[in-house]
Amino acid sequence: MTQVGGHHTERVRQRTHEGFLRHKGFRWAQIASLLCLVAIAVYFFVAARLSEPPSGGSWLGYVLGTISAGLIVWLACLGIRKRVITSGHYSLKAWVSAHVYLGLSLVILATLHTGFQFGWNIHTLAYALMMLVIVSGALGIWAYATLPQRLHGNRGETTRKQMLEALESLDKQLHDLALPLDRNGAQIVRLSLEETDLGGSFWKRLTGSYGDCANTRALRQMKALPAPSDPRQAEAVDRIVTVLEQKADVLGLARRQMQITAVLEGWLFVHIPATFALLAALTAHIVSVFTYW
Ligand code: HEM
Ligand code: HEM
Repeated sequence: MTQVGGHHTERVRQRTHEGFLRHKGFRWAQIASLLCLVAIAVYFFVAARLSEPPSGGSWLGYVLGTISAGLIVWLACLGIRKRVITSGHYSLKAWVSAHVYLGLSLVILATLHTGFQFGWNIHTLAYALMMLVIVSGALGIWAYATLPQRLHGNRGETTRKQMLEALESLDKQLHDLALPLDRNGAQIVRLSLEETDLGGSFWKRLTGSYGDCANTRALRQMKALPAPSDPRQAEAVDRIVTVLEQKADVLGLARRQMQITAVLEGWLFVHIPATFALLAALTAHIVSVFTYW
């Protein structure tokens, strides 16, 4: 079982380190940097000759706008490219490498296109959506690069399956220990047994907010119980508190692991929808500047 988790982790790590970021000795990082440097040089060379900064409507604005829009459409095609069967995964690696660096270069290219003119309009909406896509992409890179190790560290030697087995065995102990309890005590144990949510919604897993965890509530209530006079019951309560605490520890570990996994997938839930919104806003931007020309 260690294999399954370990294998996945290994794959993600490889994809990052020897994978797309360093592809062909940072070739795409160099191309993207060159593109940005040329754009900056031309922008300030032109700007020095004008009284106003070159706006989106200047010839340079049109060149930069067209390059930026072309890049955005091409970047958005990665989704299609990923789903088309390829001969080897190397070609896809080159695509992702170019995607990351050319995507980042848009911060410079599109900003210079605007001539630093922003307002509450559709043009700036397109710009903001573009930045959202870029920031979420950067978050994805960060997640791929750092989280698999943390998943490894957090897990220690305990795999997902072992955690579930541990929870199951703790639940069984709770069930047996609860037998001598009165109705009130048994009710509390049942709260932990029946109401505890391991994961929950995607949002819950992502934020790790389990303040209302049934096991935590059961633990609190069990500790608050007046000490039973029957020594058999008193001993059962003591042991139940210990087991509930152990269960809380295992739950905490499992939820931390699920949180890491949620971040590893979650950034795409921003990256992809924001891409579609960006394409729509960009279309509106281009149509509107030509309509009101
Ligand atoms: C074919 C591509 C594009 C064309 C033809 C184009 C055209 C223009 C024009 C003519 C302006 C000047 C509008 C004015 O002064 O009122 C402008 C401004 C602007 N463009 Fe573009 N654009 C393109 C791509 C983009 C892209 C990719 C973005 C960013 C995602 C963008 C964001 C903006 C912003 C924020 C402004 C400033 C709006 C303002 O003055 O408030 N444009 N664009
Ligand atoms: C405006 C710019 C961008 C657009 C429109 C865009 C769009 C997309 C799309 C459509 C996908 C395919 C997702 C899928 O179907 O699974 C994708 C994947 C991805 N993007 Fe972007 N992206 C942009 C910029 C960036 C930037 C700047 C970064 C990193 C800094 C980035 C990192 C990634 C990564 C890591 C993937 C996943 C590749 C894989 O699954 O192997 N993106 N992007």
